[in-house]
Amino acid sequence: MTDPAELAAALPPGFVVGAATAAFQIEGAVDVGGRGRSTWDEFTQRPGAIADGSNATVATDHYHRYPEDIALMRELGLDAYRFSLAWPRIQPGGKGPANPEGVAFYDRLIDALLEAGISPMATLFHWDTPLELERAGGWRKRETALRFAEYAEIVGHAFGDRIASWVTLNEPATLTLQGYGLDVHAPGLGKTLSVIPVARNLLVGHGLAVQALRAVPVKGRIGITNVHTAVVPSTDSRIDAAYADLFDFLHNRIFADPVLLGRTPRGPKAVGALGVALRVLSSTSARDLALMSQPLDFYGLNYYFPSRIGAGPAPAGVGTPDGLSDAMDATPFHLQEWPEFPKTGFGWPIAPEYLRLVLEQLAHRYGEKLPPVVVTEGGASFPDAVGPDGQIDDQDRIDYLAQHIAVAATGAPGVDVQGYFVWTLTDNFEWAAGYQQRFGLIRVDFDTLKRTPKASYRWLQRVLSARQT
Ligand code: FCB
Repeated sequence: MTDPAELAAALPPGFVVGAATAAFQIEGAVDVGGRGRSTWDEFTQRPGAIADGSNATVATDHYHRYPEDIALMRELGLDAYRFSLAWPRIQPGGKGPANPEGVAFYDRLIDALLEAGISPMATLFHWDTPLELERAGGWRKRETALRFAEYAEIVGHAFGDRIASWVTLNEPATLTLQGYGLDVHAPGLGKTLSVIPVARNLLVGHGLAVQALRAVPVKGRIGITNVHTAVVPSTDSRIDAAYADLFDFLHNRIFADPVLLGRTPRGPKAVGALGVALRVLSSTSARDLALMSQPLDFYGLNYYFPSRIGAGPAPAGVGTPDGLSDAMDATPFHLQEWPEFPKTGFGWPIAPEYLRLVLEQLAHRYGEKLPPVVVTEGGASFPDAVGPDGQIDDQDRIDYLAQHIAVAATGAPGVDVQGYFVWTLTDNFEWAAGYQQRFGLIRVDFDTLKRTPKASYRWLQRVLSARQT
C-alpha cells in the first residue's frame, strides 16, 4: 500500500499521524541554559560504549534549530509531534525548583508547535536520568520515583495548559533491560539481577507521575509508552518455549500487566538465577499495584520487530538488537535471526504482520482494560545513499512505513488504534549506534547540520494531503 492515495483512504477519520523524537537524541546544547548532566552524557564518554565513538553534545542542534524543524513538520502536514522533555534541563540535579531557562526552551517549542497547528505530545522521561540521581542509586532506588513525581508536577504546572497528550515513561523495558540489566545503554550496569527492582520503581514512578499530572490538573490526555515485541520460540522444544516465555515476561508482561491489570504477571518456569529476583516482583504490595494501574487515557505502543528466542547464551558476535554486551554471556537465552524477512540497517527484521500480532495479543491479554492504543513509535534505519543530485531515494523506508501504518490503521478486533508516530523526524544520535543508524524522514548532514527531506518525507506528505478532511 505505498500508493499515497490508497493509504490515505485506509486511515480512519481522526487517525493521528505524527513523528516522534527524544531530547537526548536531537537537542545537543548540553551545556546551554543551565542544563544538568544525565546518565547518557556520562555513558557516551565510556570507551567503546558508542559504536562510532561519538556523543550527543551537538546532535542535530535541535535546541537552536527547532524553528526550522517545526517548519519542516508543518510542510509535511503532521497532525502531532511527540518529543521528550529533558529532565536535567528542567531540574538540573533531578530535584528542587525548576530551571527557568529549561522551562523557557520548552515554552518556546510548544508555542511554536501550536502556532504551526501541530498537536504536542510530551514524554516526561526518555531515559536521560539526571546524573546526580543515578549516583544515588537511580531507578534501583524508590527515591527516584518520588523525585520523578515532583518533576511531573513541575512540568504539569508549566505546560499543562498546552500539551495535548502526556507520556510518562518511554519504554521502561529498554531502560531496565539494556541500561540496568545489560551494559548496552546508560547507565550501563550489566547487572541482570537488578532488573526487577528497577522495573518496579519505574512503574511506581509512572503511577505517581500520573497522579501528579491529574492533581495539577493538566488538560491533556495521559498515557505511558511500552515497547512490545511478539515473542516466538526458535524451535518447538520445551526449553526454547520456556525461554521464549521468560523473554515475553521480561520484555512485555512485567511492564504491561501491572499498568493495565493492576497485578504482576505470573512468573515463567525457566527462571534460573532470576528466581530470587522474581520473588521480589511477586511481593509487590497492593498499594504499589494500585499506583501502577492508574486509569489511563491511552496506551502508547512502540513496535519495531518480533523476537525469536533460543535457549543458551548468545554465540560470539550475536548481541542485543542495539549492540553487543558482555553481560549477555550470563543470560540463559539469546535472540535468533529471522532469515525469512528483509532487514533494516540495524539488522532488525521487517515484519509488519507481527505488529498485527502484538495488537491481537494486547486485545487478548487486556480485553476491556486496554485503553485506546496510540503507536507512539515505529520506523526503520537504512543506509540512505545520497544520490548525485543530493536527493535520498529511501524507497525501503517508504515500504516499511506504508506497511506498518496500514496495519495500525486497520488494527485488530478489540483494539482501538488511534494513531501512528513515525520514528523519527530527522536523523539523530541513535544511542549506542551513535550516528550510524539513520531513521529520519529528513536527512541530517552531521558536518553541516543541513536538513534534506528524503523521498519518504515527500511520500508521507502526499499521504497526509490526500486525506479527506
Ligand atoms: C526506541 C527508542 C527510540 C529510538 C528507536 C529506534 O526503542 O524509544 O529512542 O532509539 O528505538
